[in-house]
Amino acid sequence: MNWDQIYEWALWLVLGTSAVTFPALFFITLGYGRHDQGKSMLYVPSLPGWILMEAPSWIVFPLTFFLLGRHNREAVPLCFLAIWQLHYFYRGIIFPLRMRNRNKRKPVGAVIAGFLFTGVNGFVQAYAITNLSPHLWTPDWFADPRFIVGILLMLIGVSINIHSDSVLRNLRAPGETGYKIPHGGLYRWISAPNYFGEMIEWLGLAIAVWNVAGLSFFLFTVANLFPRALAHHRWYKERFPDYPPGRKAIIPGLI
Ligand SMILES: NC(=O)c1ccc[n+]([C@@H]2O[C@H](COP(=O)([O-])OP(=O)(O)OC[C@H]3O[C@@H](n4cnc5c(N)ncnc54)[C@H](OP(=O)(O)O)[C@@H]3O)[C@@H](O)[C@H]2O)c1
Repeated sequence: MNWDQIYEWALWLVLGTSAVTFPALFFITLGYGRHDQGKSMLYVPSLPGWILMEAPSWIVFPLTFFLLGRHNREAVPLCFLAIWQLHYFYRGIIFPLRMRNRNKRKPVGAVIAGFLFTGVNGFVQAYAITNLSPHLWTPDWFADPRFIVGILLMLIGVSINIHSDSVLRNLRAPGETGYKIPHGGLYRWISAPNYFGEMIEWLGLAIAVWNVAGLSFFLFTVANLFPRALAHHRWYKERFPDYPPGRKAIIPGLI
């Protein structure tokens, strides 16, 4: 089997995982964070669990990029490498180090699933950019409306995501583990603006790279986070009688 064929299998794996995950998560809520019911047999502390789960993203992407990429010296692919590494430096290192749930544990199953997915996805994204997307191998792409709109969307999504996560972080004093009602920013309208921002961010990347791999990651993010946002919303409403009644789950004014 050559690398192009391995890529095709990996891409189908990402697409297939999304197709299964999306309907399944309307019936099952993955048991980590507030939805952990203590049923897992094995747990790891949150901080190393999170770092381990995200590590393949920032290790596999550059390895694929430099070892397997035929177009890894062109400016646009290098720009996407920088964007990817920047995002995962934040998500994989800075974000977990700042989390206020150090005293909590993560189910090992969630860490293994995350580890496998981020590895496969890192390979798929880097391989597609450097081997299968000729439109990205010329600097003209920097002036293409798809690149410009996609990067703008990414920036909007990242800002919403980082701000919303910081609102959650500031709800807890160091050492606290409980939950409170978040307010401010997009929390005025929805219960999970961090997920909303994440979805906008990867929609932006999908438009900016304009390939099936980018689309597959956006679809996976929606498949994973959209049903979880509905579960968070239900959870808040069940636990807080004073939860703001007009607040929706994930799409302002709609859902
Ligand atoms: N691209 C993807 O597919 C993907 C997948 C998963 C996550 N992510 C991103 O990773 C980040 C974290 O995801 P997550 O699922 O852990 O998000 P989350 O459930 O919203 O929790 C984020 C952090 O805030 C704490 N927290 C949440 N609600 C709180 C409240 N009401 N009061 C006090 N603390 C609260 C959580 O603590 P606990 O852990 O104790 O609940 C956790 O440390 C998000 O930005 C998300 O977009 C992306």
